[in-house]
Parts: sequence; structure tokens; C-alpha cells
Amino acid sequence: MRTPGLTRDRSVFGAVHLGYVVVQSNRIAEWRRFGADAIGMHVDDAEDGALRFRLDDRAARFIIGRGPAEDVTALGWQVDDHETFDRIVARVADRGVPVVEGGAHEAALRGVERLWRFAGPKGIAQEIFTVPVTMPEPLRMLSSGWVTGEAGMGHVAILSREPDAMRGYYHTVFDSRLTDYVDENISGLKMKIRFLRVNERHHSIAIANIRGIKLDPIRTSVQHINIQSTTLDDMLAAFERVTDLGFRMQWSVGQHTNDRELSFYCRTPSDFELEVGWNPVVIGPECESTWEPATYPSISIWGHTPVGETVLDKFVRFRQALRAAAEPEITVPELQTGPRR
Ligand SMILES: [Fe+2]
Repeated sequence: MRTPGLTRDRSVFGAVHLGYVVVQSNRIAEWRRFGADAIGMHVDDAEDGALRFRLDDRAARFIIGRGPAEDVTALGWQVDDHETFDRIVARVADRGVPVVEGGAHEAALRGVERLWRFAGPKGIAQEIFTVPVTMPEPLRMLSSGWVTGEAGMGHVAILSREPDAMRGYYHTVFDSRLTDYVDENISGLKMKIRFLRVNERHHSIAIANIRGIKLDPIRTSVQHINIQSTTLDDMLAAFERVTDLGFRMQWSVGQHTNDRELSFYCRTPSDFELEVGWNPVVIGPECESTWEPATYPSISIWGHTPVGETVLDKFVRFRQALRAAAEPEITVPELQTGPRR
């Protein structure tokens, strides 16, 4: 797997793309209805009662496997070529973190030829692969399409009690770059979000924390996963179906300040949120070299009105419980040494 004499200092930025998300759930029937009938993704049955959702010609973008976690258990990252792949493996392995090859069954379920896995922040396994399986069968879905390609399938937003460690992790492993910050004051709490990119997508990873409070009131390891509709009509039709079918909306349609994405957030059957968005800013090659991170004072320009209890409500509610003993957040200290930009 290792190339002798590999130059490890070359950046892998731009060659890494969010490829798939693995969820463990026993609410398979709800997931089918949510993913296919409400969100409008293509659904296929897989072995052992698992579901796979497609967004494009790839065999799987969401893999919902049976199990009790009701959470995201792994993120799959596509790496453009074998040299880059080897460089990432070397970074992880040389720092003493085991990199393990996934089995043939796991690879088949995820729709990739082979995959390797290593530990990630908050216990979310990080998987890397180079060759995805594509499907000749046309998509059968309510949505007219999803934006994937160079930008990957969307983004992941994570609440962290150890945001610097998590940011260092993605810098060390994938050469993530800071796109911008949101610093928002709500109910006397200051929430900070760091938006990290690994390719032209404005952010593939967002890391949020509340200043001065090492508490995470979210049960699931991710706060939300984002996918991007091709058209505004698709996004709005999904909003309507989610509401009509009785799934829980979390934030109504609104527009973000930093990436200008229009979106809504709803609750998946496993209780983390799914953001369906449209038309975010793309940081193409012409912008990349001159991009300067800015800090925005709020998450949204308009809309994103909370429907039900939000993350911040939970923080307010949990504020009094700060003395409660909490397990330390899972970090990967060997991989959090990346320089800060
Ligand atoms: Fe998001």
C-alpha cells in the first residue's frame, strides 16, 4: 500500500470528496419513506435488510444498515488517485493510528471497490476509497437531481467539545482549509462554527461549539448532513413532502450568510438532521488562491426559523447541567497536530 520515497508534504487538498455516509438504524421502513418519498432520493434494497440511497450514478451515497446506533457511524471519502491515497494512509499510519482494510462485503455494500478505515473524531470512522461503483440503472426518484461531482455529495456538521482537536484532525489528514467562521450570539451563548473545505465545496465539514461550555447536548455524533438539490423547485418540493408526510421540520427555508445556500433542515428517522440545500457558493480555482476567511455574525440572512427545539435551545436548557459528569469526547490526539491557519 505504501510507495517508497513518497513525498508526504504535498497537499491533498482538492483531491478528497465526501463520497458516502453510513448510518446504523433499526428504523428501516421509516428511512425508506423519509429518503425516497419525502426527500426524493433513489432507494435500493441491499443485503440483510439494509437500504442504499442514490443521488447520482454512484451505487450508494447513504447506506442505512441495520443496528441499534441510530447514528452516522462512518464517513466515506473519495480520494482521486492512488498516490494521494497512499499519502493519506502514510500520514495516519506514521502517527501510530491503525489503518485497516474493510472487508469485501463492506466494500460491496458501500458501492466501492475497496476501502480502508481509521479512527475519527467523536468515534465516527473515517473511510477512504479511490474507485466507486457506478450503476447502469437509471435513477428512479422524485427529485430531478442532486449536485455531487467535484464538490462531493454534500457536507457534515458536527458539534464538538474539542473543536480545535477536530479541526486539527481534518487539517492533518486531508489538508482542510478554513473557509470562514460564524460567531453567533443567541440567548447569551456564543456559538462558533468553523467551516472547512477540502475541495471546491464551500465546506465539507462544519465544526460548532459554544464558547466556554464543554457540553454536547446532541445524542448523535453529527448534528446534520447536507445534500444539494439541482434546482430550487426540487428543494422546495422536498420541503413540502417532508411536511406533508409528517416528518419533523427543524428549520424552515432560509439562506445562509456565508455560503449563500438556500436550505431547510428536517429530522431523519435516526434523529440527526438532514439539510437539503440549493445553490451554495463554489470556491473554484479562480477564487481558491485569493480566498480570505471572514467571520459572519449570524448563520442566516433570512429564514431558517426554528420549528421545535433547536441545538441552541438545548444548550440553554443544558446550561444548568454543566456540572453533570460527561464522558470525554473521543478525539484522535495523534492526528490533531496540523498547523493552524
Ligand atoms: Fe449545513
